[in-house]
Amino acid sequence: MTRTLKSILAVTLAVASLALAAQAQGSKQKMKTGKESFGKLPDGTPVDLYTLTNANGIEMKVITYGGIVTSLKTPDRSGQSGDIVLGFDNLQGYLDKSPYFGALIGRYGNRIGNAQFTLNGKTYQLPKNDGDNTLHGGVKGFDKVVWNARPLPVKNGSALELTYVSKDGEEGFPGTLTVRVVYTLNDQNEWRIDYTATTDKPTVVNLTQHSYFNLAAGAAPNNLAHEVYLNADRFTPVAKGLIPTGELKAVKGTPMDFTKPMAIGAHIDDNYDQLQLAGGYDHNWVLNKTGNGMTLAARVVEPTSGRVLEVSTTEPGIQFYAGNFLDGTITGKGGKVYVKRYGFCLETQHYPDSPNKPSFPTTTLKPGQTYKTTTVYKFSAK
Ligand code: GLA
Repeated sequence: MTRTLKSILAVTLAVASLALAAQAQGSKQKMKTGKESFGKLPDGTPVDLYTLTNANGIEMKVITYGGIVTSLKTPDRSGQSGDIVLGFDNLQGYLDKSPYFGALIGRYGNRIGNAQFTLNGKTYQLPKNDGDNTLHGGVKGFDKVVWNARPLPVKNGSALELTYVSKDGEEGFPGTLTVRVVYTLNDQNEWRIDYTATTDKPTVVNLTQHSYFNLAAGAAPNNLAHEVYLNADRFTPVAKGLIPTGELKAVKGTPMDFTKPMAIGAHIDDNYDQLQLAGGYDHNWVLNKTGNGMTLAARVVEPTSGRVLEVSTTEPGIQFYAGNFLDGTITGKGGKVYVKRYGFCLETQHYPDSPNKPSFPTTTLKPGQTYKTTTVYKFSAK
């Protein structure tokens, strides 16, 4: 072999092995869900942060405290990435005062009237953490516990499993509840949430996710220009304290009608009793469902960035909360002051106060049954 041939061969081999190494590294990175520390609770319990990514540059950060999504970066119509969720730069922010930013909610998302319910003849008293009612699982709901986390190997995107065992009697609820939530960020630009739970005594369960979105990613003064479509002909009107009356009311002819896309700000301050009672949109819409499968629940378009958020779910309802209680007293990520109606939530769920409303779809879970729901948030831009 001539010297030239030999050196050509050597160079070819070197290039080939470099390419192989890069490929291995690439697939490793694709498999990997990065983990780092996010600090410690006052009692020393460590909190970890996981980063999930997909093939199209979407990146989601999740902490083990509350299963909170602290950051979610998606591209706008020009491909510019921006963080579309509200939250804090550090753990202390979440510990000090957070209106459930980004958190997993349980055992019972939304309100239980008069902080009690009766199951099989026994009345359970719950903490009153919202006037006379129980909101989002009580004083220390699932948003304030540290979840066990484990990245799951998936072919398509990346996934994180979060598990938590809630003790019998925790926050007044009966039964040991074993909860598993899987967040998957897939290459179809979907954040899929699969919830499962089992119990050893009859209990009530209603799990949800409380991310606050602003699809303008910092470029808009509030959320009022977002155009919202809700696949719901009816909603559950509320009385004082935001407890449903039990009625399913038609949205037609009211400012609650989002069956055609409407800007959040178009009618939010109308002189309509439901809006006056809640200080804006903060209601459960009854989804138009055909069967128990996934239904498109909501589509939100932010006109300046072009970002679109679509929500599909197996759940029968969705709470559209317009961030009415944000009042500028919270400063979040990067020094951003969260003014009134800066972010909005789309919390897929069973209807509020179902344990006290026999006519609503049941939230009772019995031993031997598995609670199973799925919600997908899909991101795009137009
Ligand atoms: C839910 C409720 C709202 C409010 C927020 C948290 O979305 O429906 O009324 O309590 O949580 O501030």
